[in-house]
Amino acid sequence: MRAILAAAVLALSSAAASGPADAQDVLRGQALAERWCANCHVVTRTAATARSDGLPTFPALAARKDVTAATLKGAMSASHSRMPDLQLGARDQDDLVAYIFSLRGR
Ligand code: HEC
Repeated sequence: MRAILAAAVLALSSAAASGPADAQDVLRGQALAERWCANCHVVTRTAATARSDGLPTFPALAARKDVTAATLKGAMSASHSRMPDLQLGARDQDDLVAYIFSLRGR
């Protein structure tokens, strides 16, 4: 299943043009989040529990009024806390931002 998703995401991302966030960016961002961020953060809206160590979940980040694309990118670029320097490219950051904002309450 993971492999299928990854293949689909790759196929989508090569077709995606840069521009405003669209469904393809969100999908790609979700795959990136599951791969790079889920070790520490709860990255899905459907997770039953938050972590006991108080790390911000992605839905919680999305809900915060002070969180903008710029602050998210800042947090991703700085090696925050124990977070490794992931060396995310601009495209990866944009897609992660698109994904995180897709969790904003609908
Ligand atoms: C090794 C663990 C670890 C990984 C992996 C990790 N984070 Fe974090 N992250 C943390 C911790 C710990 C905090 C809270 C403490 C801090 O801000 O220093 C945090 C906080 C954040 C914040 C909130 C900063 C704020 O303003 O409150 C954002 C945004 C964030 N992480 C994004 C990401 C993204 C996006 C990824 C994946 C690309 C990621 N993190 C991967 C550990 C991690």
